[in-house]
Amino acid sequence: MSRKTLIAGNWKMNGLLTDGTALAKDVAAAVRKMEKPECEFLVCPPFTLLTTVKKALRGAKVALGAQDCHFAEKGAHTGDISPQMLKDAGCSYVILGHSERRTDHGETSELVCKKAGAAHDAGLKTIICVGETLSEREAGKALDVCTRQIIDSVPENATSADTVIAYEPVWAIGTGKVPTTGDVAEVHAAIRKTLAKKLGKGNAGKMRILYGGSVKPNNAKELLSLEDVDGALIGGASLKAEDFIAIAKNAGVC
Ligand code: PGA
Repeated sequence: MSRKTLIAGNWKMNGLLTDGTALAKDVAAAVRKMEKPECEFLVCPPFTLLTTVKKALRGAKVALGAQDCHFAEKGAHTGDISPQMLKDAGCSYVILGHSERRTDHGETSELVCKKAGAAHDAGLKTIICVGETLSEREAGKALDVCTRQIIDSVPENATSADTVIAYEPVWAIGTGKVPTTGDVAEVHAAIRKTLAKKLGKGNAGKMRILYGGSVKPNNAKELLSLEDVDGALIGGASLKAEDFIAIAKNAGVC
């Protein structure tokens, strides 16, 4: 089953006008130079940079995404951003349920699911994140935790066209620690099995499952060559265009 590799940059709360624009321009320039990348590129800057980055990406095959959204279309929700607003700003993707949102903002899988449904209705693709903490892994509960998060966070009517999953072990995010390839393969396979039960084999077979958590140019190849790993969600290394592009190059997808 062929699934187009997705190389996605999660800039998190980083980037002011000057450096954020420069980063987007550098990514765009590198991608424009590529003959025929076999992968899809995506950058997810903070809300304040969305429209500026959109302009900087003009003419380059790099999609734009945001890092969160509300489930409502508009209204009295101070500080929130709706899926329609993201679409209007030029986004085609939104990351939902990142562990930093689950931890910092107490987001539950049920809320993530509601947001994902609203984002799909607005015509956005979602990247739904799941992953276990270190204590959950040490207690042998990684598969159970990720399976539960998939069941509760992915809408019933999600399809491979509107949904991407990202497996991000919480303890690997920003730490330089990466699970063994065996552990990554095991969780990705379990996620695909859970998706098959929930959404049917067809959707599950075509749905992309990204790995995220300390992906760097030097580990991209071994992680991205695993059978059920269909791309990467990259935090720290996406803040340097050179490293972001090197991840795709080293993985052999561009
Ligand atoms: P990292 O972050 O690459 O800095 O570990 C990944 C993520 O949180 O999406």
